[in-house]
Amino acid sequence: MPTETILSALRDKYGHLHQDADVYLKGLLHAKPITYWDYVEVDALLSLQHPRTDFADEYVFIVYHQITELSLRLLLHELEQVTGTNQPTEQQMITKVKRVNRYTELLINSFDIMREGMSYDDYNEFRHALTPASGFQSAQFRLAEIRCTRLVNLLTRTGKQNLPEDAPVSDQFDYIYWKMAGTDHATGQQSLTMRLFIEKYQPSFIQLATQIRGSTLEEQALRLEKAGQLGTELRELLRRFDQLFNIEWPLVHLRTAEYYLDSKGENKAATGGSEWKKYLHPQYQQRRFFPTLWSEEEKANWAK
Ligand code: HEM
Repeated sequence: MPTETILSALRDKYGHLHQDADVYLKGLLHAKPITYWDYVEVDALLSLQHPRTDFADEYVFIVYHQITELSLRLLLHELEQVTGTNQPTEQQMITKVKRVNRYTELLINSFDIMREGMSYDDYNEFRHALTPASGFQSAQFRLAEIRCTRLVNLLTRTGKQNLPEDAPVSDQFDYIYWKMAGTDHATGQQSLTMRLFIEKYQPSFIQLATQIRGSTLEEQALRLEKAGQLGTELRELLRRFDQLFNIEWPLVHLRTAEYYLDSKGENKAATGGSEWKKYLHPQYQQRRFFPTLWSEEEKANWAK
């Protein structure tokens, strides 16, 4: 673009704001060049790791959890654009679901950083200093679920039987599947892990689930299907997402928990206190975002 055109566009831009473009141009004389470290906020990022113990691998544990949270943030960034008030086209959905699948694959393919990348003995020492915190308390994981599917798909079997489909969201939350992990194995009481999590996040979960009712990712796909616009490509991408998020990630995660907590048959208590061996298995959870895209036989063989 010729310089004169640029100057004229700048004068127009600032003119619309009733500002003198020349003052802004003078400011450029003093502006410092942008740098990689400021733009990416590298120093801020690297100041966010605070191990609780002296075990070197606790640093690996913290950073990998942060990588997961950033990846979930990317995933939510895509989901936010295709849920809620927007009415995405089939092509827009294809683009977004491809991205979401890529982020989930990243998490699955990198989970060895946990399984292989930490000392077994050190992990089993430093983890005690983290009680009662648990990855279970990842709010972004729950936000992804809420955006992906009708809440009824996230209820326990009892919840699905007892509540009408249009029950208020706050009633549905009494039966949300992850509350099954909330009874402390040892005491029979609601676990502290769960209580703290609910106290901090449940109101915002209920608010989002209420606001997004009718326009979750699943319902956007159902809308396209009703209009005869849910083609094979999008259908397969959504099934792939279910497979990745609700079978493959839970399985690599469960295998890691088994390695550290049960490889010597000790069935150790997890930091969150759940009955984890049963609870974490995708076959037990039967969590599906797009149940109408699976046959009865496929559902019966979920994660087998
Ligand atoms: C050595 C590595 C890990 C072990 C041994 C482990 C173990 C567990 C266990 C036993 C639970 C059940 C809740 C409890 O009683 O604490 C759990 C839940 C969970 N963890 Fe991990 N975890 C590990 C790494 C991670 C990582 C890196 C993340 C990423 C944020 C993560 C995210 C989650 C989530 C989202 C849940 C809830 C899953 C659900 O409700 O289906 N975990 N973990």
